[in-house]
Amino acid sequence: MKLERILPFAKTLLQKAVKNGDIVVDATIGNGHDTVFLAELVGEHGKVYGFDVQEQAILATKERLIQHSLLERTTLFHEGHERVTQNIPLEEHGKITGAIFNLGYLPGSDKNIITEPETTIDAVSQLLNIMAPEGIIVLVIYHGHDGGDIERDALLNYCRHLDQKFAHVIRYQFINQQHNPPFIIAIEKR
Ligand SMILES: C[S@@+](CC[C@H](N)C(=O)[O-])C[C@H]1O[C@@H](n2cnc3c(N)ncnc32)[C@H](O)[C@@H]1O
Repeated sequence: MKLERILPFAKTLLQKAVKNGDIVVDATIGNGHDTVFLAELVGEHGKVYGFDVQEQAILATKERLIQHSLLERTTLFHEGHERVTQNIPLEEHGKITGAIFNLGYLPGSDKNIITEPETTIDAVSQLLNIMAPEGIIVLVIYHGHDGGDIERDALLNYCRHLDQKFAHVIRYQFINQQHNPPFIIAIEKR
């Protein structure tokens, strides 16, 4: 298949926005796959701030980062991403060039702990305020689980109403696949 699949496309978008030495956010670290990707992308002089509400996610991500010798480039918060502004040092506001949200529940974990529309939108909106111009937020939207459709619709509604003078917003989705596959919304701050 020549069309880029969803998860590789999320990485392509981040690679466009983020360069060596940059500051980025993994808003839902989970098992740390995206955290490792971002830590490699920003290089040894960059920084990844990661958030998750589950201790299990913090531990799994820390372990994965240690295995890849990337722990020093990261700061992990055992907190909701809706506390992003308070947790990222003031001197780094305005410098964040990329962020990813992998929504839904942590595979292999409690399916009742899911990202929620209010807190996700709160975090996206805070990030848009503290990002650099041309910074990109990638939302990977899983919507097959209980509550996923509500979060999807709330995010689509929020994103459709973002002022086009403030942000470019795209949606990337395979529209003829079965079983509610994930899709992407990407927001580039202007
Ligand atoms: C789909 S998983 C993330 C997968 C991850 N990107 C990976 O590479 O393994 C979603 C994660 O969001 C977390 N989460 C739920 N609500 C959150 C919140 N308010 N802030 C930060 N993380 C949250 C869950 O605990 C879960 O680990």
